[in-house]
Amino acid sequence: MIRGPIPQDPPAPERRTLELTIDGRPVGVPEGSTIIDACTALGIETPTLCFLQTLTPVNACRVCVVELEGARTLVPACARKVEPGMVVRTDSERVRHSRKMVLEFLGSSVDLSTAPDAQRYTAAYDADASRYGPNAQTVAQPVKVDNQLYVRDYAKCILCYKCVEACGTDAQNTFAIAAAGRGFDAHISTEFDVGLPDSACVYCGNCIGVCPTGALMFSSEHEMRAEGTWDESRQTQTDTICPYCGVGCTLRLNVQDNEIVKVTSPLETSVTNGNLCIKGRFGTVYVQNKE
Ligand code: SF4
Ligand code: SF4
Ligand code: FES
Repeated sequence: MIRGPIPQDPPAPERRTLELTIDGRPVGVPEGSTIIDACTALGIETPTLCFLQTLTPVNACRVCVVELEGARTLVPACARKVEPGMVVRTDSERVRHSRKMVLEFLGSSVDLSTAPDAQRYTAAYDADASRYGPNAQTVAQPVKVDNQLYVRDYAKCILCYKCVEACGTDAQNTFAIAAAGRGFDAHISTEFDVGLPDSACVYCGNCIGVCPTGALMFSSEHEMRAEGTWDESRQTQTDTICPYCGVGCTLRLNVQDNEIVKVTSPLETSVTNGNLCIKGRFGTVYVQNKE
């Protein structure tokens, strides 16, 4: 049989380079880049909580704000597109103060005990949530345990919307969860606040994969943390390919004491961009079934 050439993707259109200045240093980035892309090109780390490269920016947390010459307000680096000639400051007193306030507000109202990035930024910006006192309003509430696969601990939710986006048009298109309520009472909820088994949830776990605070957590991890046996220093990660179907998703097996304790997927794989289905995410029990 004579085969034709293997089809190739058409070449990406040329993008012009835009020049800007960040913290006094010139940098050029392709048109369409964001300020955070330009910061990354210069090796400047920008704190982010609601941003993820696989999701549409929602500008919810404001921890990434920078000062832009000529702009009245600080702008979110994760979403603001670069324009030629921009002059940006990422480490001014105003920027540091704003980021510190955001982290203090979050720390005073939300349990950040399983949020490593938020903890790291809190230390870096010298944020002290305790100065709001013991009577600061919080989102403390019981953990929702209504299925065998994952728990929802909204006392740890910073309302970053990542789970809603992953469940919606950015990945899963299931729309099982959304933001409900207003102001301080705003929260993530299933439709009519029904339990997950009665909701549209298909247990893909893609919301868990993007949650930056541990508010959404594998039941295995939740139970091991409660027992005091969860120990990431004893865990290894091994990438493999899911055997269930022909898509070929990359599974990252997180293993402790020779047991798979959770399954994640690297964001940078082009097949699924970190997303999985229920089989890849939770269907590993058979691997360890000794019967
Ligand atoms: S597990 Fe999947 S379907 Fe269920 S809420 Fe999370 S993203 Fe949506
Ligand atoms: S549950 Fe997690 S991902 Fe969802 S809004 Fe809260 S912190 Fe963000
Ligand atoms: S990371 Fe930019 S607004 Fe949250």
